Order: sequence, then C-alpha cells, then structure tokens
Amino acid sequence: MNIGIVGLGAIGSLWAVKLHQAGHQVCVFTRNTHQQTAQVTLDMDSNNDSVYTFPTNQHDSLAQCECLLVTVKSTQVTQAISPFLPFLPTTTSIIFIHNGMGAVDNLQSQLANFPVYLATTTQAAFRPKPNHVQHTGLGGTLIGPYSSNIRKSNIIKVLNNALAPVHWQENIQTALWNKLAINCVINPLTAIHQCKNGELAQPTFTPTLNLLIQEIVQVMNAVSITTSTSQLTKVINNVIITTANNYSSMQQDVVHHRATEIDYITGYLIRTAKLHDIDIPMNHQLFSQIKHLETKYPIQ
Ligand code: PAF
Repeated sequence: MNIGIVGLGAIGSLWAVKLHQAGHQVCVFTRNTHQQTAQVTLDMDSNNDSVYTFPTNQHDSLAQCECLLVTVKSTQVTQAISPFLPFLPTTTSIIFIHNGMGAVDNLQSQLANFPVYLATTTQAAFRPKPNHVQHTGLGGTLIGPYSSNIRKSNIIKVLNNALAPVHWQENIQTALWNKLAINCVINPLTAIHQCKNGELAQPTFTPTLNLLIQEIVQVMNAVSITTSTSQLTKVINNVIITTANNYSSMQQDVVHHRATEIDYITGYLIRTAKLHDIDIPMNHQLFSQIKHLETKYPIQ
C-alpha cells in the first residue's frame, strides 16, 4: 500500500518503521519541506539497532496515497495537513491520531469528501534523540469513523498487521472521551508540578484528582458517555501506575518551551461544559495555570 505519514515524532516514527517492515511504501511528511529523505533508527538494544530511510516530502506521491496517517499534535493538525488536501485523491483514507479533541473539527469542510478516521493509542514510543525511536510500551490502537457515513475500511487490517493490536471502534467518541479524561487530569498536573506521572499517586494529590474527576464525569455524562467517578478514578489511577516513570507530553512541552495541547485537552472539556451549563472550576484553574506557564517562555 502507498502510505503517507504526516509528522515524524515518536508515534509517527514508530508507525513509519512498522509499516515499512510490513512491506508498504511509506513516504513521510515533515515540517522541513526541503528535506528529501529522513532516517529513523529503531532503538532495540545497543547491538541491534536498525536504521530505516524514508522518502520525505515527495508531493508527487500524494496522488497515489491510499492512506494518510496524521500523527502531529492537535495544535499542528490544520497547518500540517491543509497544504496536502488538494493533491490527495478523495479515496485516500485519512487517519488522525493525537491527544485531545476538536482539532479535526477545524478542518471539517476541507475534509468533507474524504473517508476520515480518528484513532487513539496506548502504544508508547519515545524519541531519546532526533531520528531515534524506542517502542517503550506495548499497548493498542482503536480506530473509528469521524462521521457516521464512514464504513470500516480494510486499512484496519493493514495497520493491525503492522503494529497490533488495532481494533475497529464504531463509537470512537467513547474511547476519545476516556483518553481526554486521562489527559485532563495527568497532563496539566504533571506540567504544573514538573513531575513524573507516578508522583500523582501521592496522597497530597488525591483531593485535586477527585475534584477534577467529578467535574469531568459530569461533562462526559452530559454528552452521553457512560462513566462514573469510581470507574474513571480506577482508569486514571491505573494509567498513573502503569506510566509512573514517564513524563507526560505536556510536562515535556513545557520543559522544551513548546506550545502545549491544553486548548484541545482541558480547553475542549471547558467548551463542552459551557454548552451544557456545567461548572468545572478545578479544570478552569489548571487551564489558566498552563496558559500562564506558556506566557513565560517564547514558544519554539
Ligand atoms: O500525553 C501523555 O503523556 C499520555 O497520553 C499519557 C497517557 C498521559 C501518559 O503520559
């Protein structure tokens, strides 16, 4: 299959390598549009690293592109993909995979003729240095339709053969909301306190976690996502424990002076709460604290 990957961060690099290993033609698209090839080293162990070279930013390949996997952050989605849309056949499956919600809505009219899918993953990848990727956690990926007229595509099989497990989820909104809830709690707190995810298991954080979760549950229930405070607390505590040694993506964004995804994480929750007249003061507070942190550095 001819597959394009937009964004060569940790997840984009991992998919590029895995799809190449599965025998597909992979072209990657990066911010540096003059770059013609990109190398990715899959760090296994020091004696067993494998280096892969990908054709890069070859706009001619877009006409043959059967699947475009968009792995850039929610903040970069519009800018990253808009230039490609006029060159893609309208049969190209476009799959978005990022933290947060609402970024694809900004492109709704431009995407109207394409089969568009949303995905969420618990595969963990880490970029120890540029052009290197480590597959640090074996998770899974859920993919579902962005709009209701989209059917399950055989692209799911292709992706599952490359980096299993990939499951079709007719109601992807539920999975996205559950991931949003995890990100609303873990990401701002770890960025504000500059700590690893595991530190949130300390009892000092329990009252804040409880308040955040109560607010999030109200919003999720208002948009017909079935959950409860006890259920969500269990899920979030489990992520805190299983990713205890990781720094969250928002903690890393703040450390490296990058724009955070707060507008598409807590910001999306706040916009939805407003539509349903729900007060979520603790989430508002974290939102303001992250916005304040962002004003302290020039965004890279
Ligand atoms: O954004 C992140 O860092 C991740 O989605 C998660 C699950 C919070 C783990 O660090």
